[in-house]
Amino acid sequence: MTPIKKNLKRDIFSSKFGVIAAAAGSAVGLGNIWKFSYVLGESGGGAFLVIYLLFVFGIGLPLMISEFIIGRRGRKDVFGSVKALSPHTPWFLLGYMGIAAAFLILAFYSVVAGWSIEYIVKAATDSFADKSPEQIKEMFSSFKSGVFWPIAWQLFFMGLTAFVVYSGIKNGIEKYAKILMPLLVVLIIILDIRAITLPDAHKGLEFLFQPDFSKLTANGILRALGQAFFSLSLGMGALVTYGSYIDRNNNLTTTAIEVTITDTVIAVLAGIAIFPAVFAFGIEPSAGPELIYITFPNVFQLMPGGHLFSILFFVLLAVAALTSSISVLEVVVAYFVEELNIKRHQATILASVLIAVFGIFCSLSIGNNLGGFHIFGLNLFDLLARISSDLLLPLGGLLVALFVGWYLGKNTIREELSNFGVYKLKFLKSLVFILKFIAPLAIAAVFLESIGLFN
Ligand code: PHE
Repeated sequence: MTPIKKNLKRDIFSSKFGVIAAAAGSAVGLGNIWKFSYVLGESGGGAFLVIYLLFVFGIGLPLMISEFIIGRRGRKDVFGSVKALSPHTPWFLLGYMGIAAAFLILAFYSVVAGWSIEYIVKAATDSFADKSPEQIKEMFSSFKSGVFWPIAWQLFFMGLTAFVVYSGIKNGIEKYAKILMPLLVVLIIILDIRAITLPDAHKGLEFLFQPDFSKLTANGILRALGQAFFSLSLGMGALVTYGSYIDRNNNLTTTAIEVTITDTVIAVLAGIAIFPAVFAFGIEPSAGPELIYITFPNVFQLMPGGHLFSILFFVLLAVAALTSSISVLEVVVAYFVEELNIKRHQATILASVLIAVFGIFCSLSIGNNLGGFHIFGLNLFDLLARISSDLLLPLGGLLVALFVGWYLGKNTIREELSNFGVYKLKFLKSLVFILKFIAPLAIAAVFLESIGLFN
């Protein structure tokens, strides 16, 4: 049986709601609004949504529960927790993978978060007013291919992330996330109402909700899997790390269910806000990473109070990004502190600087400022966005499933999920079955299919 680690020097989330706010804060971010909409747009719409939902509830939810188990049982950073639960085995490699993924993700994530800060400024100075869809598109392209401002905002955002992680989690982000996240939902619902009353809104809704499976490719399926992991913050130890701060009395299963539902509802609501507008303004759904930045400004112009709403929207988008980015940085910082014995403040600065430097190259790669440097036809930014979510996260998820399903095993899972007999577990058998067989096989199959092995 795996030992239960007591590590009393560590921080613990202060309440059940605090746990949800932090974990949902990690899950809900640019992934739900920015990434979900453009990946869905590039992968054919409704059919992608169906597969995505299957992955979220069939594989994502069991894995989220598993990550919480590893963290709460191991009571350390992702590397330390896995190592503590499986001494003298190669499983610690899983921890290293998570830390590497955290680096790559934050490098491009901070760039996109920086864009939303630029858009707060643009919104505040009323820059979208009286612009045609063409001009709005042009505005984004000239901004993103610039050098100074994208980098300045990316660094500013990294600074904010570092500041929160530096000051600890409980009194900063936990407090604000509780107020700001619900506000974001209200705002998206208002945008939904405007979007579905646009002329031709039905085309967007059909694109989103009418699955046309002939449009779904093997690559689309892989991207749905990657998106599910990315959006739920799985496969890199963010939720292992947060799990290590969850107290013994928390019901991990309900926590994971609540977080998964919140994350999914927000992604779907964002899709409802965006696709009717995409069609109404003649924008290509497959426009790529710039999709929300060239769509929403058009919507705001057509709304009473659009100026105010546009400011609010981008502020909340940046906040949602922040509550996610801190969970990514925390993975690296917790590792530096607990495994390398670096003091928390120094660890935060060190990790942020390293990631920020990497992020600068990401930002530069977009406007072709790196001398047209491409790998597999992708610039550095697209490459990191793809490698991390479509390769590292699913691979991490695969290993988590095997680790919890086979290595930790049923008794440990039962102890952690029932809190040593407090809760009845009717689903235990199915959960173990999913972790041992379904999740690993499904992930492996999606991989093999997408590299064309089944053809
Ligand atoms: N889930 C976050 C989002 O949707 C991104 C993220 C990925 C956070 C992986 C942590 C770990 O924006």
